Amino acid sequence: MEALKPLEPTPTTTAISITFAAALLLFTIGFILPTFRQWYRLRHVPGPFLNSITSLVYARRTLKDGSAQYVYDLCKKYGPLVRVTPNIVVFSDAQTFRYVCSPKANYTKGLWFEFSRWDLERWSCIAMRDNESRKERKRRLIPAWSGPGLAMMEERVDARVREFVGLVERKYVSTAPGEGVKPMEFGHRAQFFTLDVATGVTFGKPFGFMERDGDVNRYLEITEVMLPMFGILGALPQLVYAMHAWPLNKLMPGAGDKVGFGVLMKFAEDEVQKRLQPGDKNSELDLIRAYLKNGIEPEDVVQECITLVVAGSETTSVVLRMALLALLTTPEAYRKLQAEVDAYYNKANHKRDDSDVISYADAKELKYLWAVIRETMRVWPNGAGLSFSKQVPDTGDTIHGYYLPKGTEIAQCMLGVTRDKALFGPDVEIWRPERWLEATPERADEMWAAVELGFSTGKYICLGKQVALMELGKWFTEIFGDYDIAPVNNVSPLKLVDGVTWLSSNFWIRFTRRN
Ligand code: HEM
Ligand SMILES: *[C@@H]1O[C@H](CO)[C@@H](O)[C@H](O)[C@H]1NC(C)=O
Ligand SMILES: *[C@@H]1O[C@H](CO)[C@@H](O)[C@H](O)[C@H]1NC(C)=O
Repeated sequence: MEALKPLEPTPTTTAISITFAAALLLFTIGFILPTFRQWYRLRHVPGPFLNSITSLVYARRTLKDGSAQYVYDLCKKYGPLVRVTPNIVVFSDAQTFRYVCSPKANYTKGLWFEFSRWDLERWSCIAMRDNESRKERKRRLIPAWSGPGLAMMEERVDARVREFVGLVERKYVSTAPGEGVKPMEFGHRAQFFTLDVATGVTFGKPFGFMERDGDVNRYLEITEVMLPMFGILGALPQLVYAMHAWPLNKLMPGAGDKVGFGVLMKFAEDEVQKRLQPGDKNSELDLIRAYLKNGIEPEDVVQECITLVVAGSETTSVVLRMALLALLTTPEAYRKLQAEVDAYYNKANHKRDDSDVISYADAKELKYLWAVIRETMRVWPNGAGLSFSKQVPDTGDTIHGYYLPKGTEIAQCMLGVTRDKALFGPDVEIWRPERWLEATPERADEMWAAVELGFSTGKYICLGKQVALMELGKWFTEIFGDYDIAPVNNVSPLKLVDGVTWLSSNFWIRFTRRN
């Protein structure tokens, strides 16, 4: 047998070796080194090792059911600050939440928010990442949401609540047993309601989701396709750079589109233009007019309008759906809420009348109603996924004893905030409105101060908070006064997915008139 001769280096093999060595070097420089550096910066923050070297672990989770629960479990296991991706750390307490959102801490919005830029030339306040311009913009937005502005919105909300009752009367009242059962898929109807409120408040008239009892210009269909992207961006916010660059920017919705988001953009542009015409005789108050009057440039008003519709609809409909589900599955709570609503209408001066929706001021007096709404926002908080992340300022900062260098992204684990046993009691996993009434007033205030962080706080606070609470209070009072509701599928009333937010489908219910 002939011994294998060692290969003589030939020009070809030398070239291959050199190429391979070069590739290895490039790989090391291009991938391993940055990965190592990324890992090294925050190596002292606890968390699973794999999560500390790649964002893909969490990104993959966002595609599956249970991503909020996943982050919550990590927080329980690793402590008050957890590294969930190489550059994102998560806290789970109300105090840190307030600190990060306070102007004095100098944090800025994280990269995630770049995704809420609908137009790459202009910024809406929600997408601006904290500089003087953002402060100035927010200062000009705020006045539109109180005083006469809020009173105008209350009228618009009332009109939408009446429209919802109209829709039930038109198509969904189940009558005699066995016949005439007319189930409603409430998952989408909740969105129709909140979308019509948001568009009605913004443009003076709603898009007409309830009137049509269906999607308008495929807006919902397209938003539903976009939602999972919000989750992935929570893990990989750097993706926004790719999305805003050629060629992906060509796929972004634009005002020229015939359907979906682009239609909303075009509509907003047209409505703003209409109000700028010298011949515009209509002086009825709406948000567009209020914003223009406060000196916001028309192109920026368009951006704010779009934000409002997106920010105001999905969020509020989550609370509507989950509160209704919780009531339907907790007979004691259902009866108590109904009794409270009946007691309200039985008072001499509150005649039950379809044209008269309960005022926000009156609704605020219904104690059990608010216990229901607060408890729902506690158990299923909005923003439970890693959305709304913020960035550590240039000076770096120390949180829970861990130094965080500049540029580290920090996000909240909302489930950690709203399931704090020290604050809410040992049965935090259970939906039980009574806990709000059993607590001393001081304790109840403290509990709400944690739960209402779902609307964010400080310089980031939600502008539509009062509108959202108003919508919820009025809807439940009106509907519980008029109807009895039951689930259609008793075994599984709806299908819930815990993703970026609490997404549900197949929530079939039936209405019967109360006498
Ligand atoms: C339960 C319902 C709602 C929840 C949980 C909620 C939550 C939030 C949160 C967390 C933010 C701040 C995000 C951040 O910058 O960190 C926000 C901003 C905002 N929300 Fe809401 N929201 C709700 C309903 C509404 C409604 C009904 C409207 C309007 C009709 C609305 C309008 C806005 C606007 C305009 C902003 C941007 C504020 C800014 O740019 O600083 N929201 N919301
Ligand atoms: C925030 O920035 C201001 C101005 O640059 C500075 O005076 C202040 O000390 C900073 N705050 C913190 C908590 O670092
Ligand atoms: C603030 O930031 C935005 C982009 O986030 C930028 O367009 C704007 O010019 C900045 N304004 C100031 C005063 O730096």
